[in-house]
Amino acid sequence: RPKLPQYNTIDDAVRLLRESKNIIVLTGAGISTSLGIPDFRSKDTGLYSKLEHLGLSDPQEVFDIHVFREDPTIFFSIAKDILPTENKYSPTHGFIRLLQDKGKLLTNYTQNIDNIEANAGVLPEKIVQCHGSFATATCVKCQFKVPGDAIFNDIKDGVTPECTVCKQEIADDALKPQGLKRKRSKNGQQKDRKNSDSSDEDDYEIPTPGVMKPDITFFGEDLPDEFGQRLVHHDRELADLVIVIGTSLKVAPVAEVPGVLPRNVPQIYISRTPVSHTGFDIDLLGDCDVVVSELCRRAGWDLQHHMIPAD
Ligand code: OAD
Ligand code: ZN
Repeated sequence: RPKLPQYNTIDDAVRLLRESKNIIVLTGAGISTSLGIPDFRSKDTGLYSKLEHLGLSDPQEVFDIHVFREDPTIFFSIAKDILPTENKYSPTHGFIRLLQDKGKLLTNYTQNIDNIEANAGVLPEKIVQCHGSFATATCVKCQFKVPGDAIFNDIKDGVTPECTVCKQEIADDALKPQGLKRKRSKNGQQKDRKNSDSSDEDDYEIPTPGVMKPDITFFGEDLPDEFGQRLVHHDRELADLVIVIGTSLKVAPVAEVPGVLPRNVPQIYISRTPVSHTGFDIDLLGDCDVVVSELCRRAGWDLQHHMIPAD
């Protein structure tokens, strides 16, 4: 993407903030690190640098749906570390709220699952949680859905939560005269115990309930429909400024958002680490809380910057 030549400096960014009416804010884990929540990819401090003990070939596999289906205990051994607990918000979350208060926030596309946007008072209808959230959980076997907090105790205890509907069905089945279900052979025929050449118990299915998976988006899963729908069929036409904050933009399809927007929409990047694969018009490198505070100061805007819950 070629740069728009008229935008370069921090004062150009301030002018854009003041003049724009429909701003897309795209956020990542970097906006919550000042609250003590680690990001993913920062060397030494990121979550992925702390997962060596899991013995995965790539720490990202902890969020891989195929690995989860194979062995959900890997994810549930670390899930408590990413469960939302903070009731604070950072100046950067406060900045997004301020854009909303000024009627300038089109949408905050967040990759974060910490729910902290809500603490700052960003309205649900202004937020797209691109990578889902802990607000609900779904059984991998029967798709039964529960409110997220129904499995929070298990998560806190490092226990793999099981589906109550599946469990009930297993209990009901056990009372039937047939007992354990016979396993189907590959050609779909039920095996008969007596005539089967292998006599071991493997021929009989040990019934297990489905695991409850929080509705956060794993690698290998689709993003919530709202993401593409809103971006392509609504926001793309309306956006007049894009501000990307605290994300390495390494994960598709969110990483493709800047490229999907019309070329004449100016793009600002605020983060500690520059990204090379997509050309922003203005890069404001540094601590995002410091950068947004300076932008507000220059714009003459009063940024609520206390890290306390919004009322
Ligand atoms: P990353 O950890 O990849 O990137 C965070 C970025 O924020 C890095 O470039 C940091 O340098 C920067 N950063 C950290 N603290 C900052 C601060 N205080 N001020 C400014 N910049 C700061 O996190 P994401 O890009 O959010 O997905 O990761 C994207 C997705 O990858 C996540 O949603 C998650 C992960 O795998 C899933 O699990 C599906
Ligand atoms: Zn189930």
